[in-house]
Amino acid sequence: MDIFYDVPLEKLNTFRLKVNAACLVEYDTPEELRTIPAELPAPRKAIGGGSNLLFTGDFPGTLLHSRIRFIQPVEMQEYVLVRVGSGARWDDLCAWAADHGLWGIENLSGIPGEVGAAAVQNIGAYGIEAGDVVDAVECFDTRRQCPVVIKGADCGYGYRTSRFKEDWKDRYIVTAVGIRLTREYRPRLDYGHVRAALEERFGSYVLEQGELTPARVRETILSIRRTKLPDPADIGSAGSFFRNPVVSRDCFDAVVRTAEQRGFGTVPHYDNGDQVKIPAAWLIEQCGWKGKTLGHAGVYGKQALVLVNATGQAAPADILLLEEQIKASVQAVFGITLNPEVEHV
Ligand code: EPU
Repeated sequence: MDIFYDVPLEKLNTFRLKVNAACLVEYDTPEELRTIPAELPAPRKAIGGGSNLLFTGDFPGTLLHSRIRFIQPVEMQEYVLVRVGSGARWDDLCAWAADHGLWGIENLSGIPGEVGAAAVQNIGAYGIEAGDVVDAVECFDTRRQCPVVIKGADCGYGYRTSRFKEDWKDRYIVTAVGIRLTREYRPRLDYGHVRAALEERFGSYVLEQGELTPARVRETILSIRRTKLPDPADIGSAGSFFRNPVVSRDCFDAVVRTAEQRGFGTVPHYDNGDQVKIPAAWLIEQCGWKGKTLGHAGVYGKQALVLVNATGQAAPADILLLEEQIKASVQAVFGITLNPEVEHV
């Protein structure tokens, strides 16, 4: 375990905001979490790769970061269970699974961040969510000061949420995650242009003959992401900034009417039982924000749901002001309240 004081966080948040934390603890084993000195500044907050966080200023407490990075497969009868340390990079796990011909997380390739945070946030992309494959989450319970194992089915996974973000917020520190993968041919191609992109890349016979591999799907997903999302190495962002709103049918009908009156065209949407999910990117784009900057913050020109550190010099206030103005526009035009996906710390 290492303890650092007055730590610059520029490299620990993918927005690349130049803020500091009073203290940072990097731990290597779950047992060390019991031995963290009580006198370190409060509050304590577990972080992963900092890819879904917005630091709203300097952090006055102690950040806890896992360096537990093992990937340990266990063959089960009908699937392969992989135990992974919370500090492993999520995409290293996706690459490992693809290299071993294992299905389950290939559509989640290229998502920045670490495995522990993936299980907390229920990361999702191209029709798959982490919660679909989480078998169990190994945690340190900060209340009872002991390790616990929580079954995936008990984590309350929903669209970009889990109990770790709600009633269990900041109680459990994830130390490892059990992920269920399979050797059975199981491509998931029904989201957006995934199928078309695979056909274009490998030819439709590959799909018809059942000759896809997790590696081929991974490669295609990575190329789709490259066309839409900024590379965190070049431009600071936290991926999608807002959740896609899920609204009532009446609210959706009102959005359709607004779109007709203002010439916005067809409203993209996904039916979700008696509710409807509308892409926040579309709402933001119709409000004229795509590619715009405000101070040092901006809206990415290829994906309106991604707020960026446009000049590299953004302060938390720049991002917060842009967030507020986008929310106000979408509220005024469509009567919909956008909620951030990115956690404000
Ligand atoms: N769209 C626009 N303008 C844009 C971008 C998109 O109108 O600038 C519309 C289009 O109609 C498009 C639809 O929005 O078909 C959906 O766009 P996209 O497929 O890019 O997905 P998204 O809903 O904007 C979500 C996730 C992403 C994930 C993609 C793919 C959330 C909050 N975001 O974005 O996750 O990669 O789907 O599955 O659910 C992230 O969480 O950081 C993230 C990048």
